[in-house]
Amino acid sequence: MVLRQITQALSDCKLGKLTMKRNPSMKSRLSLLMVLGFACVLPTLALGQDNPLQAEVEALKQKVADLDNVAVRSQSHMMMDVEFQFANLWFAAKHEQWDLAAFFMRETQSHIAWTVRVRPVRNLAAGGTVDLKPLQLAIEQGGLAPIKAAIEQKNSKVFRAAYEHTLQLCHGCHLATGLGYLEPHIPKRPPSTTLIKDE
Ligand code: HEC
Repeated sequence: MVLRQITQALSDCKLGKLTMKRNPSMKSRLSLLMVLGFACVLPTLALGQDNPLQAEVEALKQKVADLDNVAVRSQSHMMMDVEFQFANLWFAAKHEQWDLAAFFMRETQSHIAWTVRVRPVRNLAAGGTVDLKPLQLAIEQGGLAPIKAAIEQKNSKVFRAAYEHTLQLCHGCHLATGLGYLEPHIPKRPPSTTLIKDE
């Protein structure tokens, strides 16, 4: 019975010829009104501008854009950590604090990895995108792995060469992302004055 009413109401609604004459009893009229609500009003709302689903989609789109923005900013923060750690690494090795050097090497590596995880693909100002993962692998394998080996051997000379080469790989990634003006050098002073021994 209810099913028949719904079917009927839907077809009436579609044809725009719904009348009360067919349903004389009060009960029928009430149920018909309810059916009408579902069949006619809700779809109209769903398609209209006030569609709550549409509003939710818009809100989510905005949220994603905001998160993208945060990701870019936190990439900058993580890179500031990398700068801090990588510069401390230089002085830890210089003072032959090899365990501390190993620590800063690991921190450098994990923060570069985080930077890439937060935003694996960067948009270029000139248009197009660049995939950061291969650049991360290049510095891990071609720069940080030789630094690690030098630290394990406690070899200052090998360390120095590996460090200088890694600086070029830092710059290589900045160049690839259109940030070539970010060119790190061998630091003059240790950023941390609490962990590095005095000169
Ligand atoms: C995989 C790519 C990649 C590698 C490798 C990389 N960087 Fe970066 N670096 C970036 C990107 C991208 C930015 C810009 C972040 C932003 O502002 O959105 C950046 C920014 C920086 C900044 C500026 C941070 C700021 O906002 O003040 C410094 C300093 C920096 N990097 C140092 C280094 C050093 C040192 C190394 C090597 C040990 C290194 N980076 C390796 C991608 C990389």
